[in-house]
This record gives sequence, C-alpha cells and structure tokens, in this order.
Amino acid sequence: MQISMQAKEANSVLEKDCPSIYSLLSEAGRKAFFPKSGILAQTAEAKGSRYNATIGIALDDSGDPLSLDCLVKNSGFDAKDTVLYSPSYGQKALRKKWLDRIKEKNPSLGSKTTLPVVTNAITHGLSIAGRMLVDDGGKMILPDMFWGNYNLVFQHAEFDTFEAFSGGKFNVDGLREKLGQNPGKQVILLNFPNNPTGYSATVDDVDGILSAIEESAEKGNKIAVLCDDAYFGLFFEDDVFKESVFSKLAGLHENVLAVKLDGLTKEMYAWGLRVGFMTFGYKGLTGPAATVLEDKVSGMVRGSVSNVCTHSQSLALKALDDPALPDQEKMNYGILRSRYSEVRKVLSDRRYSERFEPLPFNSGYFMCIRLKTADAESVRKKLLEDYSTGLIATGDLLRIAFSSISKDKLRDLFDNIFKACNG
Ligand SMILES: Cc1ncc(COP(=O)(O)O)c(C=O)c1O
Repeated sequence: MQISMQAKEANSVLEKDCPSIYSLLSEAGRKAFFPKSGILAQTAEAKGSRYNATIGIALDDSGDPLSLDCLVKNSGFDAKDTVLYSPSYGQKALRKKWLDRIKEKNPSLGSKTTLPVVTNAITHGLSIAGRMLVDDGGKMILPDMFWGNYNLVFQHAEFDTFEAFSGGKFNVDGLREKLGQNPGKQVILLNFPNNPTGYSATVDDVDGILSAIEESAEKGNKIAVLCDDAYFGLFFEDDVFKESVFSKLAGLHENVLAVKLDGLTKEMYAWGLRVGFMTFGYKGLTGPAATVLEDKVSGMVRGSVSNVCTHSQSLALKALDDPALPDQEKMNYGILRSRYSEVRKVLSDRRYSERFEPLPFNSGYFMCIRLKTADAESVRKKLLEDYSTGLIATGDLLRIAFSSISKDKLRDLFDNIFKACNG
C-alpha cells in the first residue's frame, strides 16, 4: 500500500524535529498514522449533536449504552466504563496515571517522554514496536537468553545475539561488539528482570550498557532500544539497578530512542487483564514529535486490536487510584522475595553442585540451572513422570518459576531435580 497523505505529514514533523527518530522507523513505521479524517473525525464533529447517528454502538432511548444488565451488574462499573469503546490511544486518565507511576519509580528519568499508549498487554506493545522499527529481515541485537515468544513476536526480524553473561555479569563487551559489527541503524532489545534467567542489570552493568550505547551513538549510529520491563520492580539484591534502563536511555543521546514496554501483567499481578503501555523517551523530543509517535502507535493499535478492553482499563485506573495499592504490591513483592531468598538458601546445598549450577539471577520470577551430567529434556520428562514436578527445558538449561511455588516446597523441588539428575 502507498503511504498516505496523513502519514507523509506526520513523517515530515519527525524529519524536521527529530530526524534520528525518523531514520529509525521501518517502512511500516513510516506508513503508520492515526486516521484523523474519515469516520473518527466525522464522529468527533458530530459529538453533542441532537441526532448523532455516527457511532457504531447502540444507545437506549435516553442516550445511555443499550447494554445487558447481566454484564453490567457484575462488572462493578457503570455501563459506560465497561461496555463502551475506549480510544485506540487508551483512556487518557489511565495514560497520565501510568506516566506518573513511571516517573515516580524511575527518578532518574529526566528527559521528555510521550504519554504511554495503551496496548493489549506487553506482547502487543512489543509486536508494535517491532513492526514500527524493524523492517523484514532487519536485525535486532539481544542477549542469547530471551523469552521464547520473541521468536513469534519478532518473526520478521533477524536476531543477532551475544552471550548473555560474562564472568557472572551482563556481557557488556558482547553488546559492544555487536554494536561495532552493525554500523548504521541498530535496534537493541533489553529485558530486565530477564525471562528466563531472572537476571537484572546491576548498577555497574547499567553503566557499561550506557557507555557501550553512547559510544555507538557518538559514531553516528542511530539506535533504538526496546526495554521489555514486564517484571519491573521485582529486584531482590542490593546491587541491582532499581529503575528501568529506560530512565537513563531516554536522555542519553540525540541518536538514541528508548522505548518502554510495560504493563499490569506482572507488575500489578494482573496477567489476564491485558493492559500494557508503550512509551517513548528521547533527548530532543518535541511536543509535535511526541504526538506523531503516539499517533503512529495508536494507528497500529487500531489496525490490530482496534482498542483495548474498556473494563480492564477502568479496573486498572481504579487500582492505580487506590491508596491501598502500594501496600498490597509490597506484600506480594515480599512473598516473591522470600521465595527468591529460599532458592538461594536451598542452592547452598553442596550436593547440588555435582549435578547442576545456577546461572546468575537476582530478580523476577525465574532462575535457570545448567545441568552438568544429564540432558535437560530427559530430566524434565523424568521430573514430570517420576516426581510430579514440571519445569521448562531450554537447550541445556532448566527454568524454574519460583514465583509459582510456595516457599516451603522449594527445597523439595530442588531435591527432586537432584534425584532426577541422578538417573
Ligand atoms: C519477558 C516477557 N515480556 C513480555 C511478556 C508478556 O507479557 P504480557 O502477558 O503482558 O503480554 C512476558 C510474559 O511471560 C515476558 O516473560
């Protein structure tokens, strides 16, 4: 399809205000726009008119949603906050509230950002970011331990991976080397806390990551960094950087565009509500350029899921406004942290080191072990058949979601792994 007039106009704003961002867009990103003429514009113009027959919803004789009480009465909300459409951008109050939360939890975030656009949880945001920034066959640079679903989400891209760890820390040199090998446009994907390893960058790691990216930007490369912050906040060690790297990347350099993908999924323990956010941070972001980015993302939301569930967004906003939220989050965090500490304690059992070793971990839901004497897939099957224990095998690793096992069962679980490794 040809590029539309509206997309051309939007692109010219980016070219003028933030040429680095413009040069990072894929063809799909350049074509993306939010349709401000046509049905939406005509509907907006008709708002408040006596006979408004523009909207694709049904209203009762008094102008309220023609809803079904069996849905609305169980929703906990008025009909309009449950069954009506939300904007493709997401509900404005929710977007503002989420930005406040990002700022509060990332005090280093000095530079300008867009307002978050609501996505159908984080996977959807990742998919939009991938389409907007990476052309078919285009490269994405990321550590070699990543969430398996990236293979589906970024199917159109080519992964250029580097070893995730070096000397028990994030492999900054691996990242630097990849950046050196791929001059021009560079798209990096970072995920802290990481799935599957449960590793988050330490303060030192972050310094290294920032200097590697800054060096590359100084050479004139244009860099987009996607920050998959799905497990944000679940940091369990003192030396871990307690903010998103987004907060530092957003103001790093005129050649660096930071994209934050986050949401309620794990951060607010609401996996099935499907509320995520996509936020851009950029050193030289102007108001008009921010609007263009929000428009493009919202156009892609409209072209994929149309808009995100109103009921979920209403619920999210209500929870974010609830003064009990911080305490409740702290309580769940405490539970996960105590499981993390228990895993650390259990792993100090010397016997285990004959059969497996943990990969670096300090955060999130998971940790991985590398088996020394047995094949991971055979051990996984044996665990399931003989010990009623389910884990994920990836390559020579077993991934353990300690997030879903009560603290008192963790020792037993690792004992089962040990026994299964013994044959
Ligand atoms: C690293 C990572 N990113 C994103 C997601 C997806 O989150 P959502 O359920 O919000 O799409 C997950 C879920 O497992 C994940 O592990």
